[in-house]
Amino acid sequence: MKTDAAFWDGVAPKYGGQAISDEAAYELTLERSASYLAPEHRVLELGCGTGSTALRLAGHVREILGTDISPKMVEIARGRAAEAEAGNARFEALDVMAALDRAERPDVIMGHNIFHLIEDMPAAFPAIHDALPEGGLFISKTPCLKDVGALKRLAFGALIPLMRVFGKAPRHVSFVTSRALEAQVEAAGFEIIEALSAPTISRYIVARKRQAGMVAAPK
Ligand SMILES: C[S@@+](CC[C@H](N)C(=O)[O-])C[C@H]1O[C@@H](n2cnc3c(N)ncnc32)[C@H](O)[C@@H]1O
Repeated sequence: MKTDAAFWDGVAPKYGGQAISDEAAYELTLERSASYLAPEHRVLELGCGTGSTALRLAGHVREILGTDISPKMVEIARGRAAEAEAGNARFEALDVMAALDRAERPDVIMGHNIFHLIEDMPAAFPAIHDALPEGGLFISKTPCLKDVGALKRLAFGALIPLMRVFGKAPRHVSFVTSRALEAQVEAAGFEIIEALSAPTISRYIVARKRQAGMVAAPK
């Protein structure tokens, strides 16, 4: 079976040219994200793909570093940044955990359509928490494949392994509910300050790193 990087390298040329499936939902979440960003912010994006979101948000921040496991995605993102003359947007080929291990501390960490693809998703959130300063923001969007009805879930469950056999699906895809996802983010030490479903299957979450010693209030 292909490694994750090889799978996404293969997808990259097509991915860059694909239309966004729900333009209105994408614009809504971009607008929400922009409302949290400030000109002094240093942003780290995990699993940035071909850089579309990073480049749309670069004008709102001091600098943005987009990272992705696929060197091909990063190559396309770099080309787009050069074309857009976005001097404050950089791109590096790094796995999520390696990106979080860097010495530079970002003020904001973003990840869109990436966490369900990570084998150890629950481990990613504490690592993101560690990489942020107190009050730092974590902005994410994650398909919650367990939020759909039983029939659709069954179809996903059957289709994904089949697609994998033909090299059309990545090695790992997690099935979570938005509730379980939010619980994982909170358990990592974040306070969720905004959450919405856009499109319906995708949970958009904005969370703030709690101050040391602050415990989440029981629900
Ligand atoms: C579904 S695409 C999403 C791309 C972009 N964030 C977006 O919303 O359009 C998933 C991206 O995550 C990257 N990816 C997958 N596993 C990764 C990992 N372990 N570390 C970093 N990037 C990863 C893939 O290369 C791909 O670009």
